Amino acid sequence: MQASKLPGQGASIFTVMSALSNQYKAINLSQGFPEFNPHPALIDCVNRAMRDGLNQYSPMAGQPSLREVLASRQNHWGRAFAIDPDKHITIVPGATAGLFSIFQSLVMSGDEVVLFDPSYDCYAPSVVLAGGVPVRLALNVDGSYPFEALKNSINSKTKMVVVNTPHNPLGLVFDQSAWITLSEVLADTDILVLSDEVYEHMVFDDSEHISVLQIPDLAHRAVAVSSFGKTFHATGWKLGYITAPEHLTQEIRKVYQFLAFAANTPMQIAAAEFLTSYPNYEESVSVLMQGKRDLFVNALQSSRFRLMPCQGAYFQIADYSDISDMPDQAFAVHLIETIGVATIPVSAFYLNPPQEQRWLRFCFAKNDETLLKSAELLCQL
Ligand SMILES: Cc1ncc(COP(=O)(O)O)c(C=O)c1O
Repeated sequence: MQASKLPGQGASIFTVMSALSNQYKAINLSQGFPEFNPHPALIDCVNRAMRDGLNQYSPMAGQPSLREVLASRQNHWGRAFAIDPDKHITIVPGATAGLFSIFQSLVMSGDEVVLFDPSYDCYAPSVVLAGGVPVRLALNVDGSYPFEALKNSINSKTKMVVVNTPHNPLGLVFDQSAWITLSEVLADTDILVLSDEVYEHMVFDDSEHISVLQIPDLAHRAVAVSSFGKTFHATGWKLGYITAPEHLTQEIRKVYQFLAFAANTPMQIAAAEFLTSYPNYEESVSVLMQGKRDLFVNALQSSRFRLMPCQGAYFQIADYSDISDMPDQAFAVHLIETIGVATIPVSAFYLNPPQEQRWLRFCFAKNDETLLKSAELLCQL
């Protein structure tokens, strides 16, 4: 029999729930993808690039025009060191591939990588495939980070700590004081920080996205991951980028060149042209998603779900313990089968899910009619 590099790994919860959702023709608020299209001008740019014959390989690190606009954007937003498009930015076919390249290049056999649960599903398997050992620490019940547990877990094998802000699935942001505490915990170490910032342009109310690259004590040993799939509402395009100091970028590119070599060309050219034409585009993403969150939350006011605070990303966590005592996987299946609404059970993001937790994740990056229709169904419970 063929040995497995990931024994026990089945289809991801997103695949399972989306398949079930299709089977029951449910409203799919499970997998995190928008129901609406990217900006029409961006689509025009892609079409034009294709028609103009820009259909062959891009340079390995990415189209210079795109890296330049991204460097200039980041320098405008403020980073602890000046971002150079050639030295610090690598365009990749989506954040998932970026994360994989980062773990493969920076984690050596036996190195420990700290993940905070609930954690996005690709981190742990990607660490394992790199020969590393995921060390999974649960977030505190209020969503704050377990810095004491982090301190206690650090040893000579600890190579990297992974942070995700804004957070999937919890919709929380890692604020300035959390970054400062993390810097203090890591002060006398050379532990790297990987910050998954794919929802960086979806922050609500008074919350602010703070990149690891803004933190002077961490930026020189940090890697930030971004996704155009999220920022452009184009998850199917699989395009993202990595920003890191030069010594880390060099190692990441050594691996990345053999993972994919380059990301697709017309979308890179288009992204550069679009971002240049729309210098404030990113701000519009937060406004749009906050409107969706508010619509969904208001429509659920009369339901028996208890809604958790949502500061960013496009997920709303709902506690259903007033409705049912079923474990969350069973309850998520029950919702698809009975009222036709698909969600993600939050236990899927844990190594050891808290037994008493009754949380579902709803993706609200959907058309208003879809959100209102699903809220109407959910209010019947
Ligand atoms: C936290 C997080 N990281 C990474 C990704 C993957 O992004 P991409 O589609 O660009 O590979 C996702 C997608 O849902 C995500 O939620």
